[in-house]
Amino acid sequence: MAYRELITPLRTIMTPGPVEADPRVLRAMSTPILGQFDPAFTHIMNETMEMLRQVFQTKNHWSFPIDGTSRSGLEAVLTSVLAPGDRVLIPIFGRFGHLLAEIAERNGAEIHIIETEWGQVFDQDEIIQELKRVKPKVLAIVHGETSTGCMQPLNKVGKACHELGILSIVDAVATIAGTEVEVDEWQLDAVIGGTQKCFSVPSGMAPITYNERIEKILAARKKVERGVRTLEDNADVLQPIRSNYFDLSQLQDYWGPRRLNHHTEATSMLYALREGARVILEEGLEERFARHRLHEKAIMEGIKAMGLTLFNDVPWKRPMVTCVNIPEGIDGEAVRSMLLEQFGIEIASSFGPLHGKIWRIGAMGYSCRKENVFAVLAGLEASLIRNGAAVIRGEAIQAALDVYEAAGDEQLLS
Ligand SMILES: Cc1ncc(COP(=O)(O)O)c(C=O)c1O
Repeated sequence: MAYRELITPLRTIMTPGPVEADPRVLRAMSTPILGQFDPAFTHIMNETMEMLRQVFQTKNHWSFPIDGTSRSGLEAVLTSVLAPGDRVLIPIFGRFGHLLAEIAERNGAEIHIIETEWGQVFDQDEIIQELKRVKPKVLAIVHGETSTGCMQPLNKVGKACHELGILSIVDAVATIAGTEVEVDEWQLDAVIGGTQKCFSVPSGMAPITYNERIEKILAARKKVERGVRTLEDNADVLQPIRSNYFDLSQLQDYWGPRRLNHHTEATSMLYALREGARVILEEGLEERFARHRLHEKAIMEGIKAMGLTLFNDVPWKRPMVTCVNIPEGIDGEAVRSMLLEQFGIEIASSFGPLHGKIWRIGAMGYSCRKENVFAVLAGLEASLIRNGAAVIRGEAIQAALDVYEAAGDEQLLS
C-alpha cells in the first residue's frame, strides 16, 4: 500500500499549547545534521546555553535543555535532587501541581501537599508558613497553571526558601518567554521551561536552569555510568541518582567541557531551540511580554463584548491564557469542534473539575498575533450563534479593534 506524502491541515492554534511554531524555527529544523561532538555542533550547544541564560534572566552556568517533552525537565530536576525519604512541599492549585507530586512520589520522597481550589492561587505568606512548619528539603511549585489560567506569584517564596535553607524548584513550562520569570531576582534554585508554548518551538525539549545549591547535591549523588567512567569518577556513591537518562550530574558532563558521552543529542530539536531562543532575544523580553499582554487584552475585551464571562478575570490571571465560562445549556465540545472543522481554529477545553465548564484560549509565542485574535473571536462568535447561544452579535471584533487602536498605530501593525 502506498502512503501519501505527509500533508497536514493548516491550523490557527489558540490553545495553551502546543502553539504554532515560528516559521524561522521550522526552517532551522531542516538544517543538515552534524555529529554530536563536531566542534560546529558543540559551538551550537554552547550558544544555546548562553541564550537560555538570557531567557531565564539568570547568571546560572547550568542552563541547557533536557531531551523530551516539558515533563522530562521536571523529571530530570526532581529525580536528580530528591533521594528516597527527602521531604518535599508541593502547593497544588491545578493539574500540574499534581504532576509534581506524582513525580516526587515516584522518587520515594515524603510528600507534603497544600491545596487550593482550582482558579485560586496561594498567598505567598501561607506557603512560607507551611515551609516553616514542614521544614522540607524542597519546595516544588508551578508558576503558571495551564489547567486554570492562573499564575502563582513567587517573588517572596524564593527568598524565603533561601533564608530557611530550602531548595525551590519551579515549573515555568507555561510562562517562560511569555511573561516575567526572574530566576535570579526571585532567588529560584531550579526552573524548568517548555518549548511548545511561548517559545514557539515544537514539543520535544525542556530548557532548564539551576544554581550552585542544586549543583552541590548533584555532585554528592554523581555516579558516572560504567563504560565511560574513569578512575577519577567516584563509583561508590551512597545515594546515586536513580535515573540514567535524567541524571543531571552526567548531563552536566555532556554539556560541559568534558563532553562525556551520554545520550545522542536531538540535533534538529536543538537547532529549533537555538532559533527559538534567538528569535525571543531579537524581539526583546520586555517587548515580548508586552505583546502577550496586548493580545490578551484584545481577547478579553472581545469575549466580554460578546456577553460571555471569564473564569480567570482575576489579578493572578496568566496573561497568555484566557479561560471562558461555557454558557449554560451550550455544548462546549460542539462549539470547539465547529471552530476546528469550519474555521480551522483550535481552542482547548480543560481538565478535572473544570472539564466541560470552561474553554481555554491561548495566545502564545508565534500564535500571539492580531490576525489570530480576530480569527478566534470571529469564529467563536459564529460557532456560538450556530449552536444556539444568545451572544451579543458584531461587538467582539470592534472591542478588540478598540484595544489595538488605543495601543497606538505601531502596535496595530504587530
Ligand atoms: C505547567 C505545565 N507543566 C508541565 C507540563 C507538561 O509538559 P509536557 O506535556 O510537554 O510534558 C505542561 C503541559 O502542558 C504544563 O502546562
